Formats: sequence, structure tokens, C-alpha cells
Amino acid sequence: MAYECILTDTRGPVGLITLNRPDALNALNKQLMDELTDALMKYEADDAIGAMVITGSSKAFAAGADIKEMQPKSYMDVYMEDFITANWETASKVRKPVIAAVAGYALGGGCELAMMCDFILAGENAKFGQPEINLGVIPGAGGTQRLTRFVGKSKAMEMVLTARMMDAEEAERSGLVSRIVPVDDLVEEAVSTATKIAELSRPSVMIAKESVNKAYETMLRDGIMFERRVFHSLFATEDQNEGMAAFAEKRKPAFKNR
Ligand code: HXC
Repeated sequence: MAYECILTDTRGPVGLITLNRPDALNALNKQLMDELTDALMKYEADDAIGAMVITGSSKAFAAGADIKEMQPKSYMDVYMEDFITANWETASKVRKPVIAAVAGYALGGGCELAMMCDFILAGENAKFGQPEINLGVIPGAGGTQRLTRFVGKSKAMEMVLTARMMDAEEAERSGLVSRIVPVDDLVEEAVSTATKIAELSRPSVMIAKESVNKAYETMLRDGIMFERRVFHSLFATEDQNEGMAAFAEKRKPAFKNR
């Protein structure tokens, strides 16, 4: 598969994936997510690779799912394709460790993708948020479940209900990210951390990852299935269409509460 929306690069035992749609702040469209899945699965299958890093640009890790691509979808569309299942969750399913190196915006699906990785290193300018409520929907790729586990109910509820963003300092204080790194050093630091992991015993690394995830994921699946169904149901509202159309047309949405 030739990639147009991501770049890939092998750094010793580390597979580095760079999200690369600079004109759209790395908005996650279907093509990008298909390519990301393909790259993750290739590195997963490659015996020379022991860990992976996903990063974006210094301005945006990813500003969310592609709103312009989602805007015309109906409830039937998102329900029937089980929108996001096919290609969105690979980062959370691979068995080798995946580090998210986040600079700039990680919003909506971008924040959710970062949280699917095993841990997040944040550039000093990182901004995390779940602003879907402004579009008449809710997070649909695990955000309500994973963010709550990372930062606790109060902060997660405020972020999901008001779209308030968290900066890197607050994200570190709240346990969303493991460390803050100067933006210019971010990718190198993530690659060197991934290299350390890749040089360890692979079975012990994979079992350690599986074990930490057991503590974290028990009952997560039920929450995520619930979230996906109610996320789909919002595509039956007029407000979803209005919220997303207003974004694309650069105007304030006129919600009708239906
Ligand atoms: C499509 C997007 C986009 C997105 C930015 N762009 N985010 N296109 N989907 N999520 C595009 C803009 O339309 C614009 O294109 C270009 O990228 C640059 O963005 P600007 O808005 O001009 O940049 P700036 O003023 O710096 O503002 C940055 C920003 C803003 C604050 C991040 O772009 C923003 O609010 N973006 C949307 C964030 C969001 O709502 N994310 C959640 C999406 S819903 P043009 O062509 O005008 O130059 C979601 C649901 C996931 O993620 C559910 C599971 C699938």
C-alpha cells in the first residue's frame, strides 16, 4: 500500500509513523486510518521491530476525526458500517508497545488515538481535548471511557461537556501523559524511549503490556460498546448535521435541540 496521509520510517528496532495531512491539521479521515492500520500491522508482523511511535506535526498530533467526511453521514450509515470499528482501534490492539508523541492539538479522535497508545509523551505545546459536544455529538472512539480512566470523573466530565482543552502541564499533573518534553526533542525522545523497550526481552515486554492493560481495561469494552451505539444515534439528529456543516462553513452552529 502506498501511503499518502502518513509517513513511515524505521529507526533501528523502532517503527516511526508520522500522521501527515498538514492542510487539515492531520484530521483523521478514512484513508489516513486505513494507512495507519496497514503500517501498524506491518510493524507488528516485522520481527526486526520491537516498538512503535505515532506522532504528528509540531502544530497538531491530530485535530480529530475528519469533520467534513463525517458531516453527511446518517444514523444508518454509521450504524451499518459500525463507524470506526474497521480501522480505528488497531493502535489499541497491537501487542508490541506503541508510544504516542503528541505536540500541538490532540482533539476529539486525535486525543482518543493518543489514548489508545500505551503511553503519551507530550510536547510542551500539547493541547488535549474532546470538543465533539460543539458539533452536536460526543466522543466516539473511546474518549468518554479512556479519558475518565486517565484523569478521573470530574476533569473528564468537564472536558467532555464543555470542550475545555488541557495543556501539557495539566495533562501531566492529571496522569494523561507520562512526561513533557521540549517540542524539538519530542520525536527523538520518543524514539529513544521506544528503542530502550525494543531492546528488552520481547516476551516480557508483551506480557508486561498485557498485564498493565488488564488493570486498565477490565470492563472498558462494555463502556466502549455503549459509547459507540449512542454516538451512532446522534447521527439521527439534525444538530449533528448542523454542527458539522457550521464547522465546514466557518460559522456558529444554530442548534435546534433535535
Ligand atoms: C476536518 C479540519 C479538522 C477536522 C481542522 N481542520 N480540524 N478538517 N476535520 N477535525 C481543517 C480546517 O477546516 C482548516 O481547513 C485547516 O484544517 C486548518 O484549521 P483551522 O481551523 O483554520 O486552524 P486553527 O484556526 O489554528 O484552529 C485549530 C483548531 C480548529 C482549534 C484545532 O481547527 C478546530 O477546532 N478543529 C476541529 C476540532 C474538533 O472539533 N475536533 C473533533 C472532531 S469530531 P481549511 O480548508 O479551512 O484551511 C471527532 C469525533 C471522533 O473527532 C469520533 C470517532 C470517530
